[in-house]
Amino acid sequence: MERLGSQAMTEKTNTPPRRLRFEIFRFNPEVPESTPYMQSFEIDETPYMSLFIALNEIRERQDPSLQFDFSCRSAICGSCGMMVNGRPALGCRTLTADLPDTIRLHPLPVFKLIGDLSVDTGTWFREMAEQTEAWIHAREAFDPDAQEERMDDDLAEQIYERDRCIECGCCIASCGVANINPDFVAPAGLNRIARFMMDPRDSRDATDWFEVVSNDNGVFGCLGMMACHDICPKELPLLDVYAYLRRKALAARFSG
Ligand code: SF4
Ligand code: SF4
Ligand code: FES
Repeated sequence: MERLGSQAMTEKTNTPPRRLRFEIFRFNPEVPESTPYMQSFEIDETPYMSLFIALNEIRERQDPSLQFDFSCRSAICGSCGMMVNGRPALGCRTLTADLPDTIRLHPLPVFKLIGDLSVDTGTWFREMAEQTEAWIHAREAFDPDAQEERMDDDLAEQIYERDRCIECGCCIASCGVANINPDFVAPAGLNRIARFMMDPRDSRDATDWFEVVSNDNGVFGCLGMMACHDICPKELPLLDVYAYLRRKALAARFSG
C-alpha cells in the first residue's frame, strides 16, 4: 500500500522522480583479464518500474555490455533470479518502489556465472533431474489404446502444487547448505523428489527413494532455517515438502 501511495503521489503532484543508484556486479569469466568489480549507474525512477525495466534502461542508454537474463517478464520462465540487496528475487517481479534509493545487484550464488548478473541455472537443474531421475518410471508399458488412468482430485492438486516450480534458483541461492555442499539436492530438488514420490503412476517405492533422500545430501541435510520457504517467489509449500519426505524416509527405514 505504501508503494502505491508514493507512486500515486509522484504522478499527481509532479514531484521530481526519485534518483536511483544501481551498484551492479560486473565480471566476464570468458575474458582472461576481467576481474570482478562493482559498477554504479544512476537513473530516474518511473511509476511501476521493475528491475527488468531499470536494467534494460541502463543497458540501452548507458552500457550495452551489461549481461542479465529475462524472458517472460511475468514470473513464469524463472530466468531472472538475482541477488537484490543481498536477497534472492525475480528481477521482473521486483518493483524499485519497494527498494531503497541504492540498489545493489549480484548474480545468484551456487550457479555457474555466465557474466555480470547472468547465471547458468539450466545445467544445475538438468544435473539434479538426472541425479534424482526426475521423470515418471512407468509401472506399465505405454498402451495408446488404454483408457486414461484416473487420479484422486486432491492428489492431483498436490502434485500440481509441486509442479508450479519455475526453476528460478532463488531458493537454492538462499540455502546455506546448498551454498557449501554442492552435492546437496537443495530445496528445488527435494520438491521435485516429493512430486514424483507422491505420483501413483511412478513405480519407485519408498525404499528406492530412501537411498536418494535419507542422507545429508537429501532431506536430512536440511537445517530447517526456512530461508527457501520465505524466498520462493511462487510461494511453494517447501516446509510441507520436507516434512512429507522425512515422514516417508522414516517409514521406509522402520518398515524394512
Ligand atoms: S530450510 Fe533447508 S533447504 Fe531450505 S534453506 Fe534452510 S537448509 Fe536449505
Ligand atoms: S522452489 Fe520456488 S524458489 Fe525454488 S526454484 Fe522453484 S520457484 Fe524458484
Ligand atoms: S523474466 Fe521470466 S521469471 Fe522473470
